[in-house]
Amino acid sequence: MNRPVYTPISLDVNGRNYRIRVDHRWTLLRVLRDSLDLTGAKRGCDRGECGACTVIVDGKSVYACQILVMQVGKRKVCTIEGMGTVSNLHPIQRAFLENDGAQCGYCSPAFILATKALLDINVDPSEHQIKRALSGIICRCAAYSRIIESAKECIGTLDEKSKN
Ligand code: FES
Repeated sequence: MNRPVYTPISLDVNGRNYRIRVDHRWTLLRVLRDSLDLTGAKRGCDRGECGACTVIVDGKSVYACQILVMQVGKRKVCTIEGMGTVSNLHPIQRAFLENDGAQCGYCSPAFILATKALLDINVDPSEHQIKRALSGIICRCAAYSRIIESAKECIGTLDEKSKN
């Protein structure tokens, strides 16, 4: 096995600039969780199948386990930690809370971020578009109907501030 070679990079996550040293083989997920302690993105399968690691990179929802951190470059990363706080929830987080859009909660950050990525580019998506946007994420509790209802509740609730 090759010895790790650490390279200094800067990473824009949730509007904050991090300067860190990374092995070029590390994924974005590994860096978020293990270097930056941003554990909202979950490590489920770690091979691009479950969607639990979904984050937003330059407006698009992506699997953080399938992107090398070196590929991120200057693009902006948004994780669940960059949305609301416990005392000031983002409207999408509030909608999921109020519509029982979570059971165990493991996949919730991924569904919330995928909903945000959709609504940031389409303020009035159809149910079909919502289902399609969220289709890459598995909910092992099978709470899909509540998740879709939660996402639908967000339509028309986001102001410009909530989009960024
Ligand atoms: Fe990335 Fe499953 S952990 S898709």
